[in-house]
Amino acid sequence: MISLSPSVGSPHSRILGIGTYRPSRVVPNSELIEAIDSSDEWIQQRSGIKERRFASPEETVQMMSVASSRQALERAGIEAAQIDCVIVATVSHMLQTPAVATAIAHELGTDRAPAFDISAACAGFCHGLALGSDLIRAGSAKHVLVVGVERLTDITSLIDRGTAFIFADGAGAAVLGPSEEVGIGPVVWGSDGEQFDLIRQKEDWRDVLEADRPEMPHLVMQGAAVFRWAAFEMAKTAQETLERSGITVDDLDVFVPHQANMRIIDAMARSMKLPEHVKIARDIAEQGNTSAASIPLALGRMIDEGEAKSGDIALLIAFGAGLAYAAQVVKVP
Ligand SMILES: CC(C)(COP(=O)(O)OP(=O)(O)OC[C@H]1O[C@@H](n2cnc3c(N)ncnc32)[C@H](O)[C@@H]1OP(=O)(O)O)[C@@H](O)C(=O)NCCC(=O)NCCS
Repeated sequence: MISLSPSVGSPHSRILGIGTYRPSRVVPNSELIEAIDSSDEWIQQRSGIKERRFASPEETVQMMSVASSRQALERAGIEAAQIDCVIVATVSHMLQTPAVATAIAHELGTDRAPAFDISAACAGFCHGLALGSDLIRAGSAKHVLVVGVERLTDITSLIDRGTAFIFADGAGAAVLGPSEEVGIGPVVWGSDGEQFDLIRQKEDWRDVLEADRPEMPHLVMQGAAVFRWAAFEMAKTAQETLERSGITVDDLDVFVPHQANMRIIDAMARSMKLPEHVKIARDIAEQGNTSAASIPLALGRMIDEGEAKSGDIALLIAFGAGLAYAAQVVKVP
């Protein structure tokens, strides 16, 4: 009988470098409040958002992805040609096919790396991290580029009171590689499709095209229900993630939750009883909610500002439309 050669992976994986791209246009709350009959005070108090970044026409999904990836590659000390797989998490690439990951892989100069997009909304980057880590450990790839990118302004209505002030644009990327020790812990992930309608594209594309006056189907959200689910359920998922990695909150240095709402972040931190010494990502104040880009942008800021140091133990947890979620403990590169 013929036996086939197995693929041989690395015992473990880790993040080698993080890169970010923030669009240049800063949009304060004052620019948005008139159209939604709101106030700077209400938005700050209910969401913690002071300002956000909106992309210009030139700041496309591909452009922002390439910029953040180049920074991640440089920081990782890896050439684009060494990347064996490109995973792009996004819900705002406007072509149904092909995957934007293929164009990004080409523009970066990878050697025809396999490249594909994943759709897991705000949980997309942590899904990509889990997949990338497993590809390395299984031997399907040695170096993986994971990008979280969104141009949510393309699919957000600026007259929708429940979402206009929340969503924003940006990109973050991570280069993953082999490791002798665990740098990316076990993922705890899942979905709750019973709550499929809580955050969604308003209409199916076919219904849009059949309408008398077709318009871009924007995101709609049942904010209060999402808030309750995120604040209570995700704290339990966070706890389970720590247990799967064999650590407790006391071992954490950094907490990087999805940047959805400052009050959700605070509720999770309280519910998890995070000790004082744990630094908490609060990128949302200046960046808004960038869905798949939110975790790498938030961690990138903490690294750049010296709040997260190389070797620190960080808990990442992301959640959003689906409802989909994913969390893991990682070592900061
Ligand atoms: C969107 C969100 C900030 C709204 O806050 P909220 O406290 O739940 O607000 P509600 O929708 O219950 O409305 C409360 C009041 O504020 C008003 N309101 C709603 N939107 C408003 C706005 N943009 N500006 C001013 N007032 C507003 C409502 O009319 C309501 O008024 P009433 O009490 O007189 O009836 C909040 O629900 C949220 O952040 N949810 C989670 C969103 C999230 O995480 N999304 C991403 C997941 S990936």
